[in-house]
Amino acid sequence: MILEQVNVLPGLAAALLPVMAAIAATASARKRGAAAREWSLLRRVTSTARGSEELAAAIGPHLDEILSLLKMDAGGIRLAAAADTAPSATYRGLSARLAAHIDGAQLESLAEQRLPSNDPILLQDLGHAAARPLRRALAATGFQSFAFYPLRSGVRLLGALILASRKVGGKTAPRSEFLLTLLDVLALAIDSAHQRVQAAIALENARLFQVVSRSQKEWETTFDAMQDCVSVHDMTGKIFRANVALARRLKTTPPKMIGKYCAEIYNSAQLTFSPCRHMDALQSETLIVEELELPGMGGTFQLSISPWYDKNNRLAGSIHVAKDVSNEKLLRQQLIQSEKLSAIGELISGIAHELNNPLTGVMGFSQLLQQRKDLDERARDSLLKINSLALRCQKIVQNLLSFARKQKPERALSNINDILERTVELRNYELAVNNIKIVLELDRDLPRTIADGHQLQQVFLNVITNAEHAMLSSHGRGCLTIRSCADRSSGHIVVEVSDDGPGITETNLSKIFDPFFTTKDVGKGTGLGLSLSYGIIKEHGGNIYAKSRPGEGATFVIELPIITTSADDLSIFPQLQPQAHQFEKLVHDKRILIVDDEQYILDFFLEIFRPYPMTVDTVGDGRAAMGKLVENDYDLVITDFKMPQMNGQELYHWIKDKRSHLSNRILFVTGDTVSAETRSFFEQHCSPYLAKPFKIEDVKEVIQQILENAEAGATSRPAD
Ligand SMILES: Nc1ncnc2c1ncn2[C@@H]1O[C@H](COP(=O)(O)OP(=O)(O)OP(=O)(O)O)[C@@H](O)[C@H]1O
Ligand SMILES: [Mg+2]
Repeated sequence: MILEQVNVLPGLAAALLPVMAAIAATASARKRGAAAREWSLLRRVTSTARGSEELAAAIGPHLDEILSLLKMDAGGIRLAAAADTAPSATYRGLSARLAAHIDGAQLESLAEQRLPSNDPILLQDLGHAAARPLRRALAATGFQSFAFYPLRSGVRLLGALILASRKVGGKTAPRSEFLLTLLDVLALAIDSAHQRVQAAIALENARLFQVVSRSQKEWETTFDAMQDCVSVHDMTGKIFRANVALARRLKTTPPKMIGKYCAEIYNSAQLTFSPCRHMDALQSETLIVEELELPGMGGTFQLSISPWYDKNNRLAGSIHVAKDVSNEKLLRQQLIQSEKLSAIGELISGIAHELNNPLTGVMGFSQLLQQRKDLDERARDSLLKINSLALRCQKIVQNLLSFARKQKPERALSNINDILERTVELRNYELAVNNIKIVLELDRDLPRTIADGHQLQQVFLNVITNAEHAMLSSHGRGCLTIRSCADRSSGHIVVEVSDDGPGITETNLSKIFDPFFTTKDVGKGTGLGLSLSYGIIKEHGGNIYAKSRPGEGATFVIELPIITTSADDLSIFPQLQPQAHQFEKLVHDKRILIVDDEQYILDFFLEIFRPYPMTVDTVGDGRAAMGKLVENDYDLVITDFKMPQMNGQELYHWIKDKRSHLSNRILFVTGDTVSAETRSFFEQHCSPYLAKPFKIEDVKEVIQQILENAEAGATSRPAD
């Protein structure tokens, strides 16, 4: 549309028609020559005007010829100010001072006053106050006549053609066809130039508009694509922009949130929301960050409220950004939990270690006392009680130690039933207090597998705790059944943990192994238990899955591969009780050296070996042991692992070096099965060891094994 309007130059051709007609009608050759010059000039002005937007400058070069054809001494072209251009002028034959007078004479306003007349303003018209200095200046410079021809488009003043002559009586208004045509041509040219400029401006505006609307769209898309919930508030706290993420969380749409306060939207979503900190952010003009629990919005959010400023740098409101930090919070809790556990672990392992030594004495001596023939029934009964209570203490210490263990996963031949029993023992008290009955249906012929007992204990513990929680929360009591069996056709040991709790819905069944999936209240469950269990079982080459129907309880099935490869070889403790006469035969006439810094441990060993025809030497440290080993020839060395001055490890290396025939006849006694250093030493050197506290049978079993192996020339393996 605008471009069509620009195409006004064909109008110039119509304006030129009278001149062409005049040329044709001119009879004399001289006049025809002058008319041809006029025609040529008009044509050039027209074509100059067509290509230029700086019209005054473009017409300037033709001004001399215009003045010559009109027989004028001086003149100029003035252009009025247009939409985006300042007024401009170009003059010939006028001094700068006179030009300044013309500019200051306000001739345009005089011409406006004369509307609708298109008549020129002549010298005699320059009588009004503003024009009088011009008149005097014209007179002072010898100009006799002056004319200001307005150039119009309709009533709009576009500019003026100014003519001045020094000739006395010279015509100042030669209203020839040429002049009238020239005025039309100039007016049309200026008008068309204006329209071209306007069109260019309009085009530029349209382009800018497109750019702005594109960037606005991009901004809005980005705003809505943000995962964080964002709302922009005015000074009063009302929302005037909100993104899709926030609307989605509040189950509404962004337009419905506009004009509302935080309290309104959060209340309508039935969320308990602490008072909005909008005003605090405005008053302090600082960023406020806080963590809020917003269960209705799906978790824990870190809310940042910052002031924002308009383009004049004036405080305009606040921006709220809510970031879902639920996962981070859970991980944080998990980290705190694991740090807490590790600190507890350190403490436990220290205490357990200290308890092991006296416990060895209590267990050992009570057992020894029981073997005496001169005891009455009551004393024997009391001793039995002491022994069984000490055994209970030993189990507690072992459980504590297996929890406190901080070492990388390890593989050892394991009896799944033992691990299950240990785990149940750990929960026994809690389960009993919570009215949960436990039924253990363990296959006593269960094959073994290679596993990390500690990790498996974690798995069983989580499954049992989950069942416990489910049964308690649904009916405050329950029955937990734990079965183990071997499925030899698939080569698996199968453990089933069944409860009579509420069961698991079909939808949840597919999610329970996902990390962070939990139906427990905030702070009660991290939802990591089953996902960790899944990882552990998979690492063991096994399988874990759940079977359940809502209302009918749940069964967790754990399958582990049966691994029989030289299974029994791996164990230093044979399954069968040692035959008493075999032990006696083996130790007959043997000489044993026992090294321990605790006298009661030495006494205990002496008591164990007293009935047998053998020689037993005891020493309190490694150095004394070296002396004895130099003096005598021994069949077996039993040594404590941790001793002051020279420890068991150093003694081992000395024996290996100086008495190498004894290197597979060393039995270590240790109260420290937790430390990674101790364990790695035993594994590395395939050294058999007895973990304190131990029973008399344990001592006999392991000694029998060592002596048999040594005598058969076989290599000893580590104790299980
Ligand atoms: N025996 C069960 N009966 C019913 N639902 C169960 C049972 N065991 C697990 N679940 C469901 O599986 C979810 C995930 O269990 P998972 O052990 O991974 O995490 P959690 O117990 O919620 O938290 P955590 O173990 O970290 O304390 C539980 O929240 C619960 O909904
Ligand atoms: Mg759990």
